[in-house]
Amino acid sequence: MIPSGTTSQVRMPASEPLSAFNVWRVREDFPILKTQVYGKPLVYLDNAATSQKPQGVLDALNRFYAQECANVHRGLHWLSELATQDYEDARVKVQRFLGAAEAREIIFVRGATEAINLVAHSYGRKYVQAGDEILITAMEHHSNIVPWQILCQEQGARLRVAPINDAGELILEEFQKLLNSRTRLVAVGHVSNALGTVNPVRQIIQMAHNHNIPVLVDGAQAVPHLKVNVQELDCDFYAFSGHKFYGPTGVGVLYGKVRWLEEMPPYQGGGDMISAVTFEKTTYNSLPYKFEAGTPHIAGGIGLGAAVDYVSEVGLNQIAAYEHELLAYAARQVSRIPGLRIIGTAREKAGVISFVLEGLHPHDIGTILDREGIAVRAGHHCAMPVMERFGVPATTRASFACYNTQEEVDALVAGIQKVQEVLA
Ligand code: ALA
Repeated sequence: MIPSGTTSQVRMPASEPLSAFNVWRVREDFPILKTQVYGKPLVYLDNAATSQKPQGVLDALNRFYAQECANVHRGLHWLSELATQDYEDARVKVQRFLGAAEAREIIFVRGATEAINLVAHSYGRKYVQAGDEILITAMEHHSNIVPWQILCQEQGARLRVAPINDAGELILEEFQKLLNSRTRLVAVGHVSNALGTVNPVRQIIQMAHNHNIPVLVDGAQAVPHLKVNVQELDCDFYAFSGHKFYGPTGVGVLYGKVRWLEEMPPYQGGGDMISAVTFEKTTYNSLPYKFEAGTPHIAGGIGLGAAVDYVSEVGLNQIAAYEHELLAYAARQVSRIPGLRIIGTAREKAGVISFVLEGLHPHDIGTILDREGIAVRAGHHCAMPVMERFGVPATTRASFACYNTQEEVDALVAGIQKVQEVLA
């Protein structure tokens, strides 16, 4: 990893890096970062939407299609065995990365959204009845709201929502009050995509477990930024997407404790998830295959394994420390801009600065920043209830990854000042 000697067209550091972390070497691993946009160097600050991919992930995808393309778990032939071996190796990489006890607790899915839908359909249909409750928080992404709404409508259950404070932090006392004997599941985001808040998930899980309530953690915005160990957290389910974690789109992971996954019925029916089929009866395959109907995203799984290798080599603790400093620097710099208000000022944050500029619409801000080569997201970020909570229709969001630099933060600040000049 981190090849040296290639010439980068990115801007070189104007000052010392924030920490010992060598971001300029890391950048060399991401070919797309050399892109010019409207004749300016790309400043990619839309990592919460999707992150860019290192060469190792691109190579793994290419290698699969160029050298090992075959279906998995089905063939007796050499190529199929090779593909199966690489796909299952990727599962073990994810298992170790998440600190899961067993590889069969790792279900490959399309992304965090499908992982949550799987639990809503399978766990939900079995364990949630009329009058029961599902508890979420007011900072969830739509993917951790709508599946539960659908389930509650179907089963006659009730969706409860724990409130957040003006900083965008979960109010734990209110959350505690909502836990009761009717609560069948708590579903909570580890890191908010719209606010950047890091939730105290260990504490939340303990509080729920004191009432024997299982907990699903939506980790889509957490795994690229924080070291996660599902056994230490003691969560019952953990969901994340590959593409926000330097991996391919269309692949993600549901971790589930064996005790739940064994009891839960299949989510989708089809090939690979069965052990025997007659017209009268089907018996299901063992874990994890019971939940993996049809041909999976084989290249995606292998690519995700390569992303795990990459992040492990760079070091997630080093990434977390570097990004923490970078985010603090960015918050300090943008706060100085007159008329700018940061939405989401939690004490613990990761990866995200959402803001509004007095009198200016986020879409206009995003469009002018784009002309400066700066990619941000503007809108409700698939978290409309969060926008409502803060009384704004939308925000502009800069979101960071391990390859972003102080110089890019400075470019963002200059870009925002230009927006103010242009639109004043
Ligand atoms: N959920 C992704 C985001 O926050 C798409 O942008």
